[in-house]
Amino acid sequence: MTNKKLDNSKEDLSDWNDYYKKTDVKTMPWYEENLDHDIENEIKSNNYNTGNFLDLGTGPGTQALQLSKYNFEVTGTDISQSAIEKAKNLSNEINFLIDDILNSKLPDKKFDFILDRGIFHIFDISQRPQYVKQIKRILNDEGILFLKCMSVNEKNLPDDDMPHKLSKQEIVDSFNADFDIQRIDDSNFRGTLESEFKALFTILKKKSD
Ligand SMILES: C[S@@+](CC[C@H](N)C(=O)[O-])C[C@H]1O[C@@H](n2cnc3c(N)ncnc32)[C@H](O)[C@@H]1O
Repeated sequence: MTNKKLDNSKEDLSDWNDYYKKTDVKTMPWYEENLDHDIENEIKSNNYNTGNFLDLGTGPGTQALQLSKYNFEVTGTDISQSAIEKAKNLSNEINFLIDDILNSKLPDKKFDFILDRGIFHIFDISQRPQYVKQIKRILNDEGILFLKCMSVNEKNLPDDDMPHKLSKQEIVDSFNADFDIQRIDDSNFRGTLESEFKALFTILKKKSD
């Protein structure tokens, strides 16, 4: 699949529900059957195995499914009803819910870990504070956010479109007040496209109140 195909897909993304309704999730650019390599390395190297884990913007649900193979209690949320309906077919052991992270109904301090693989970079700069506020609210004390977003170093995507390409400084500016930024790694997104897109993988620990 070429970059043009990614551009074609993006035209449909203004309505996530419609997109999931009419598209086979296995053809979506971000579809990755395996656990994302960055999150897998992080979980294994720290021996993380238990706790409440949110796969935010779960989409096809594959990351939630892989996380449920550990001893985590996994919740997968998405703004798209259609995505959630399809994801529910993957497993009875995952709590798949419709939820908009910017107006989230999830309980305070519910999660020990949150994975964001490709959601933060959707939002405009003006929406970032609301995202951070909600993540801070639903994360447990010293809970961890694993954030994977498109990097400013990715030259094959336009500069002024969604997904937004982020610099390390933008991540620091967005999260510094509420989170200890443990690491920001240069990485890549693996999905169904031939090329891998340059990504940033960030590990953020919520500061105590
Ligand atoms: C790039 S896809 C990534 C899907 C999934 N995380 C993965 O890695 O396969 C972005 C996902 O975010 C979801 N989304 C968009 N806006 C959202 C919001 N405000 N709250 C929750 N999910 C949202 C979309 O429906 C879509 O499934």
